[in-house]
Amino acid sequence: MTSADSRKVEMVVNGETVVGSVPDRKLLCDFLREDLSLTGTHVGCEQGVCGACTVLVDGRPARSCLMLAVQAHGRTITTIEGVSRPDGSLHPVQRAFHEQHALQCGFCTPGFVISTIAYLDERGPDAGPLSEDEVREHLSGSVCRCTGYTNIVRAVHQAASELGALQAEGGEL
Ligand code: FES
Ligand code: FES
Repeated sequence: MTSADSRKVEMVVNGETVVGSVPDRKLLCDFLREDLSLTGTHVGCEQGVCGACTVLVDGRPARSCLMLAVQAHGRTITTIEGVSRPDGSLHPVQRAFHEQHALQCGFCTPGFVISTIAYLDERGPDAGPLSEDEVREHLSGSVCRCTGYTNIVRAVHQAASELGALQAEGGEL
């Protein structure tokens, strides 16, 4: 603890260890955006509803507006800035969103991309073809005000088929 109302936190964010001093009640989304300048994590509703603030915590999707920074102490966090390939190329889910024109204003996009990466990773390559109902069920946890979702559904399908092929070859997601 560094003062009466702040604590030292240490976590791995996008592969790098970061150390900070945060007020007890500072949200993880605010720590990422304000202290680490990782502004790709967007904040919409701040009530756990819209999904814009989704990040991976130890590989699982989490609403960073519902989590305190101190709760992330000792955890591994991945934000949208951390999903591209080591060579700088887009993650297949990012590329699918781009190629399928699955965004307009883009406010929701980091949350959709992060949650889709986690979803397809958990689903695995042997689960068979994705139905549209499955995709829409997955997407129901996030809100997009612009696209009408059709292109987002297409992007998830494209990413699922590319990642399924990659996983079947033993490649990294
Ligand atoms: Fe976190 Fe909307 S800002 S779910
Ligand atoms: Fe604008 Fe989804 S692209 S909110």
